Amino acid sequence: MEIRLPKGFFMGAAMSGPQTEGAYRTGGKLENIWDTWSDRSISDFHNKVGSYVGNNFYEKYEEDIRLFKSLGMDSFRTSIQWSRLLDENGHLNPEGADFYHRVCTCAKGQGIELFMNLYHFDMPTYLFRRGGWESREVVEAYASYAKAAFREFGKEIKYWFTFNEPIVEPDQRYRNGLWYPFIRDAKRGMNVQYHLSLAHCLAVREFRKAQEEGYLMPGAQIGLINCFAPPYTKENPSPEDLEALRMEDGVNNRWWLDLVAKGGLPGDVLKTLEACGLMPDVRPGDEAVLSMGKVDWLGFNYYHPSRVQAPKETYDENGYRKFSDPYVWPEATMNPYRGWEIYPKGIYDFGMKMKQEYPELKFFISENGMGVEQENRFRSQSGEIQDDYRIEFIKSHLEWIIKAIQEGARCMGYHYWGVIDNWSWNNAFKNRYGLIEVDLAGDYGRKYKKSAAWMKKLIQERDS
Ligand code: BG6
Repeated sequence: MEIRLPKGFFMGAAMSGPQTEGAYRTGGKLENIWDTWSDRSISDFHNKVGSYVGNNFYEKYEEDIRLFKSLGMDSFRTSIQWSRLLDENGHLNPEGADFYHRVCTCAKGQGIELFMNLYHFDMPTYLFRRGGWESREVVEAYASYAKAAFREFGKEIKYWFTFNEPIVEPDQRYRNGLWYPFIRDAKRGMNVQYHLSLAHCLAVREFRKAQEEGYLMPGAQIGLINCFAPPYTKENPSPEDLEALRMEDGVNNRWWLDLVAKGGLPGDVLKTLEACGLMPDVRPGDEAVLSMGKVDWLGFNYYHPSRVQAPKETYDENGYRKFSDPYVWPEATMNPYRGWEIYPKGIYDFGMKMKQEYPELKFFISENGMGVEQENRFRSQSGEIQDDYRIEFIKSHLEWIIKAIQEGARCMGYHYWGVIDNWSWNNAFKNRYGLIEVDLAGDYGRKYKKSAAWMKKLIQERDS
């Protein structure tokens, strides 16, 4: 079945500063946590490719923005790297600021709306050494960084986001120990999650102040982007499975949704955390800060659902209550390269949840994409990668988005993740997401894959 996008539904590209820019020591950029990890243990990265290169967006941003335009895209999102914009004293780094000004000017010149995110897992190392997200001093430093960014770029950027996926660092760095500094401590993880929430709220407060004081352009909006993986459990769940589902949804999704829609954290989740010794470090005055976190809209990154069941063990290795274990659905279709389930209907379920529970908030699909290993296998004689699997992936998700919109979900647009192949954290360039490939052997040259022409046609048909 062919699909047709609704009129006015925007289409664009999602990316991030640390995964694309490269130039990690150019233009006064400070070291960030990925550079530090790469320096300390390069073997942790696929093919020993560390954070240094990105996909060379720093040099190629003009070409890349032209490529987005060539596909008919109307918008793209990237992030400012905190470690590029400010120096260690929190002052503007003029060369860093100049780079982002040039990106803004180029996007404007191409008639492409730039969505700017302030943080994509890329803590500056000097702040990580002061405690990172475990420290309130760093939360304050983030608010000052946000203030500086709003004031510097407020007349050039209309759509702002405080964080991309604030659930990921608490999980990957502090709870599961998968990312540097490899901590496995549920209590510290919860504190980090809480501090990120406060940081979000302080940045929103700075945004509203900047708005009142005339630093922003008319109609400027602030949002939060998260991977609100829709949670599911077994078909015939026990009460314990349902309890696991409540906490999975509570910590990963409702935590952020309540924060940005209601200005507070979900009471039932806090009650459970309190009861099992996992309550974060809440201080007097925090409630007032949390009440300032309401946003204008949301970004929803969707790759896979989250399936959980009651945990086998009640306590983890540190004696903290476990809330759930993963549940492997026997009927799951997997992306074997990434190990993620492909479940397009999840995107619809989220849309319906938003409609019912947070009807005042509009949203867009801020990331969705398919990473595949060794795409050379799919190269035709003419040299083009025939990524029909990717076309199928995007199409099946768009079908469910369109259905959700028809049934009342306020979904405004779609950004494909990694329109141009980029560096994927410790997977480096293992899985390629792009509609456009990057030739690592040849000066990071860009080349369309089959899906690029498909995307272009899809967007043209929307407008015809
Ligand atoms: C999202 C992140 O979670 O998933 C991106 O916002 C990331 O930064 C993307 O690259 C795909 O995941 P991965 O780990 O395959 O790069």
